[in-house]
Amino acid sequence: MNREDFPMLDEDIVYFDNGATTLKPRCVTDSIVKYMSRHTSNIHRGDYDAAIVTNKLYDDTREVVARFVNASSKEVVFTSGTTMSINMVVFGFMKKHLKAGDEVLITKSEHASNVLPWLKLSEEIGIVVKYMDLNDEYELTVDSVRKSITPNTKVISIAHVTNVIGDVRDVSTIGKICQDNNIYFCVDGAQSVPHMKEDFKNSNIDFLSFSGHKMCGPTGVGVLVGKYDLLKEMDPLCYGGGMNNFFEADSSYELKEVPIKFEAGTPPIAEVIGLREAILYLESIGMDKIHEHEMKLKEYLISKLEAIPNITIYNKKSDSGILAFNINDVFAQDSSVYLNHYKIFVRAGNHCAKILKDEIGIKNTVRCSMYFYNNFSDVERLVSALEKSEDIFKVVL
Ligand code: ALA
Repeated sequence: MNREDFPMLDEDIVYFDNGATTLKPRCVTDSIVKYMSRHTSNIHRGDYDAAIVTNKLYDDTREVVARFVNASSKEVVFTSGTTMSINMVVFGFMKKHLKAGDEVLITKSEHASNVLPWLKLSEEIGIVVKYMDLNDEYELTVDSVRKSITPNTKVISIAHVTNVIGDVRDVSTIGKICQDNNIYFCVDGAQSVPHMKEDFKNSNIDFLSFSGHKMCGPTGVGVLVGKYDLLKEMDPLCYGGGMNNFFEADSSYELKEVPIKFEAGTPPIAEVIGLREAILYLESIGMDKIHEHEMKLKEYLISKLEAIPNITIYNKKSDSGILAFNINDVFAQDSSVYLNHYKIFVRAGNHCAKILKDEIGIKNTVRCSMYFYNNFSDVERLVSALEKSEDIFKVVL
């Protein structure tokens, strides 16, 4: 789908590292070049023509993001990415609202950015980080969530789609459970928002984090969507220009309203404009269509890989375009170097989900992560390289 929009696909490559970052369509790069070459200006400070154009695009992006995830625009904060968004929630909100002994439930398949901030907060104020059980497919079930809740549970923080197993969590049911039990619900949407419909409001999510660069947008921009009333109670981690109404020599000061109070300094303007274009582009394709296409490719890939005896697949059942596997007895990084020989780009390693090894019993995997511009021929090239993988050391060494 839409391959002609991606200049990188003019090359003879197979790009299967979309979980790490996605390719950028021309409309996104054009919008950034246009900002940088035709209407460069800061935002919310200038009264001249170029600034008016830039302000309009920047402010409109908030509306576009809000529509895309079903939130209100005053609930949309621009950040530098998912990691920053989660850190803002943990240190700007949770640090104020949690106390020693309060429990935060996560899982062992979370990415570092949804584990380490909680561990640091635990060190600082004594919250207890607990891991909800995963099933035999390394997936989180609603039942496991229910069983993990105690009277001390104050937060559930999970990825909607995990970045190695690719399991899709039932966020709308989990959101309802959180609502019924007065639990804050934080969702890491880095691997879901780019690939399927995300519904902030109807899933009762309190804080949703995601990144622009994993959804055809530029690096350096991400989003925190937070319920308005909670954002009002959240402190910024960063103070400076653009986010205050006044400050005086007598130490008095007043911050602007949500969401502007979280956007101190000159924001990533070019990147926000690029994100707007990326979302309009994804909307023009349709999120259901994107998900459906990825699932067809993944099913096809699994059916082919099952016929190759020396391949182990870890997540056959997960309902996303992510496949984690290994060539038996081969270090994952060697496999990715081998695949690169055939111009097939995948990621190998622990994928920043460093405690998943406790569940799957292996530290490193090869990850093939798909997007709508991948096609059946990409899958066939991967399969054909893996069929020849007995030659791996001839190629790698
Ligand atoms: N979080 C990104 C990944 O999973 C970098 O690859």
